[in-house]
Amino acid sequence: MSKAATDEFIFNKFSLWLNEAHKAYEKLNLENHNAFALSTCVNNLPSSRMVLLKDFSHDGFIFYTNEQSRKGLEIAVNPNVAMLFHWNPLHRQIRIEGVCEKVDSSVSDAYFQSRPYLSKIGAHASQQSREMGGMAELIKNVAVFSAKYPLNVPRPTYWHGYNINPKKIEFWVEKAGRLHIRKVYEKTQQNQWVEKILFP
Ligand SMILES: Cc1cc2nc3c(=O)[nH]c(=O)nc-3n(C[C@H](O)[C@H](O)[C@H](O)COP(=O)(O)O)c2cc1C
Repeated sequence: MSKAATDEFIFNKFSLWLNEAHKAYEKLNLENHNAFALSTCVNNLPSSRMVLLKDFSHDGFIFYTNEQSRKGLEIAVNPNVAMLFHWNPLHRQIRIEGVCEKVDSSVSDAYFQSRPYLSKIGAHASQQSREMGGMAELIKNVAVFSAKYPLNVPRPTYWHGYNINPKKIEFWVEKAGRLHIRKVYEKTQQNQWVEKILFP
């Protein structure tokens, strides 16, 4: 039996789980509780990689990357993506499917400027996902851009935030005997969330 749910309910639940993951990871001295697998798909060929969730709101989930990377090029062709968080210490996962689009350049600018100096230089030095001659090439690029931008590093024109607007969110909790709990929230054509419970 499906029932209605609200943005507020779903995002509060996401926020609670993310906070609990943060606390659990801190306790265990683990990093990147906010990491998720991002899957893209072009020509029916899926690909996945980890990225970091940097912000979220009722509009969606934000990460940052290079638009000329493999994922960036794939999103430009097919903006339908999937996200997967797994927090082993909590025995929980969250699966999200949605549509990805670039955030406002002012949002990307503000986040880029909040990053450490070397991360900013790295965004200029790395032609993410393209073939590299060797590590020497990357190190040379770092030296070139550090000399070019000794203090203020502008955001590269190809580096952006992407927002994933969710159409489907599943909260999964591991239970004994593989009797796991699966609650799925799916957006209808009328933009209403509907909750369903699935067999594990
Ligand atoms: C924990 C973790 C977090 C990462 N976060 C990001 C990120 O936020 N943005 C990013 O572009 N790459 C991130 N990476 C690197 C990506 O996994 C990937 O190697 C890179 O983005 C190139 O992927 P692509 O060739 O599919 O575009 C992260 C890797 C790990 C292991």
